Amino acid sequence: MSASLGIGLIGLGTVGTGVVQLLREAPAAVRRRKASFEVRRVAVRDPAKARDVQLAAGVLSGDAEQVISDPAVQVVVELTGAPGAFGWIRQALQAGKHVVTANKAVIAEHGDELFDLAAEGDVDLLFEASVAGGIPIIRSLRNGLVANHVESLYGILNGTTNYILTRMARGEGDYAGILAQAQAAGYAEPDPAADVSGADAAAKLAILSRIAFHTRGTPADIYCEGIEGIEASDIEFARELGFAIKLLAIARQASGGRVEARVHPVMIPAESQLANIQDEFNAIEVVGSAVGTQVFSGAGAGRMPTASAVVSDLVELAERRRRGASTSIEDMILGEEAVGFADICGVEMRYFLRVLVEDRPGVLEQIARILAREGISIASVLQKERDLEGGAVPLVIVTHEARERAMQQAVGAIDALPMVTRGVRLIRMQEL
Ligand code: HSE
Repeated sequence: MSASLGIGLIGLGTVGTGVVQLLREAPAAVRRRKASFEVRRVAVRDPAKARDVQLAAGVLSGDAEQVISDPAVQVVVELTGAPGAFGWIRQALQAGKHVVTANKAVIAEHGDELFDLAAEGDVDLLFEASVAGGIPIIRSLRNGLVANHVESLYGILNGTTNYILTRMARGEGDYAGILAQAQAAGYAEPDPAADVSGADAAAKLAILSRIAFHTRGTPADIYCEGIEGIEASDIEFARELGFAIKLLAIARQASGGRVEARVHPVMIPAESQLANIQDEFNAIEVVGSAVGTQVFSGAGAGRMPTASAVVSDLVELAERRRRGASTSIEDMILGEEAVGFADICGVEMRYFLRVLVEDRPGVLEQIARILAREGISIASVLQKERDLEGGAVPLVIVTHEARERAMQQAVGAIDALPMVTRGVRLIRMQEL
């Protein structure tokens, strides 16, 4: 057995504890690869707090910088999600340490700088746990699917929102009540705004499209819309039309060498694989030029699934170093011209529109006229004879393929009509 790789852990919360436990168990497959690890330093916010794992005296400290600078530490494993994370990762790379992290926000925002630093120092920066927890999607895209030109990628990348939408579809409560359950179950981030607004999924999508399409954008370049406006009645209408509503992170090859990347609620066919990913589970459907369609699904968060991803990075690192190989991040470095993101306004898709209108003659005609003016063709119309709010009724329109720019114009004009009592709720549709 070769010498152990010295690990310095920053953060001993849910995932950090899982990593220590998994390394102690040292699964047979890890041992067979002659990878061995020793957790030499651990930095936590409160060293006095009781922990689920026992550590030898002197290992625990309250100072991340001590962990980074300890000469016995060769790999810094950052698992905090704390505001200081970017600084610690940068410092570790500058100090010539390898870094393994689960921090999607840092990789998505600062990938360019960090990968350049890793290349300069000939060290590794691995981040399998940053997207979809236990699902090895990053390794699959980088290695298993390397012979493919990726055509499209559709992901359910946020467990909290999938949990909320699944439970709403089962009629188990309204949005706010189910969000509270998700928080109690530990799926939602401490501040669930990043989950429900789509920001968490957008950060993960920025990472996946960097690998799959060589884009270099940050989450701010990705169109992002959350699930806050989805109502139980939308899910009911979707079901009547043969669809389910999911929060999807989508990246697709677009014209002009650009990549379309967006996160928003989508109606997808009820029989599709992604429509049947329930509760807090994650899934990614990848369409590759050689391999065709592949769907990866499983636990996207949680102690042991995320620890599984972290340890897989550690084993890769240990193996590479044992063989004397240099950094494995060549594909992460900006060697050629970066691929840009396409503007969502140019995307064409079908749309579901729900609008609350007064129930009187001519209303439908006016709305239809606006859509016609924008060149948008109606596929079906549904009006329920139910009185929701002071004489208003929900009118549902499904369109044929239309361009986003035209749809945005039409929505603005419909919302301005006097007989519209509550403006358009627009849900994009996607055949998978
Ligand atoms: N809060 C995230 C989710 C898990 O709900 O999927 C960590 O990325």
